[in-house]
Amino acid sequence: MKRQMKRQMNFENNDWLVNDHGQLEVCPVVEDQWENSGQTYRLYRFLTDIEDILWRYDDDRQRLEQIRPLVRRLLNSSYWLQGEYKAPNPERGWSVLTLYEEPDFPLTVQTVVWLPGRKSKIHNHATWGIVALVNGQEKNVVWRRSSNKSPKKGFADEQKPSDRSDQSDRIEQVGEQIINPGDIISFTPEAIHHVEVVSEEPTITFNLYGLTNYKQRYTFDPINHTAKLF
Ligand SMILES: [Fe+2]
Repeated sequence: MKRQMKRQMNFENNDWLVNDHGQLEVCPVVEDQWENSGQTYRLYRFLTDIEDILWRYDDDRQRLEQIRPLVRRLLNSSYWLQGEYKAPNPERGWSVLTLYEEPDFPLTVQTVVWLPGRKSKIHNHATWGIVALVNGQEKNVVWRRSSNKSPKKGFADEQKPSDRSDQSDRIEQVGEQIINPGDIISFTPEAIHHVEVVSEEPTITFNLYGLTNYKQRYTFDPINHTAKLF
C-alpha cells in the first residue's frame, strides 16, 4: 500500500454512462451535502448503502444512478482508499486489488492499476460496473455490436473465424472519452469498451461490479469479428 495526495472528487467532475447500445451519456453530478455533516463516510457504511440500493432497485440504470454519488462521497471522505492498490508486474502491466468480495453477494469492490502505454482488450462486463479514476489519465474507447445478435452459446469459442457464416460478433468503434481524476464512468452489462493509459503515470481506478454472468462475458476481436468468453 502506498499513500498519495488526496485528490478531491467534487461535483464539478464528470460522470458518464456507457449503455448497451454504445452511447456515451453524460450524467448529472449533484452537490453532496454529506461533506457539511463533518462525518466520515466509511467503507462499511458505503457497503451497507450499496446493499440497500441493490435490494431496492432491480434496474441497472437506477442502481448506477444511486451508487455513483456514493462512490464519489466515499473516495472524498475515506481518501485512504485512494492509496490502496497493488503495484503491477511490469510484464503484465496491470494489477487488481480486491477490497471487498464475498460468496453469494452480488458486489465486488477493487482498485485496478494500469501502467503507462498499456491498453486492455475490448470487452463487456456482463454486469453493471462503475469506475472512478483516482490517478493518471485514461482513454475509454466505446464499441457496439454492428448487429443486434448476441453470440450463440458456445459458438464463438468452438468455431474459427473462417468457419463463420454470419457477422453476429462484428463490432464497430463508436466513441471515446478521456477520463481524469475525479471522473466516474459507469457501464450497463452489455456495454463494450477498452481502456488505454494516456498519461505518463499509471492509472489507478476504484471499481465496483455486480454479479458477472460469465456465460455472457466476452472479449472481442474487431479484425476477425469474433467474440471469446473472457
Ligand atoms: Fe472494463
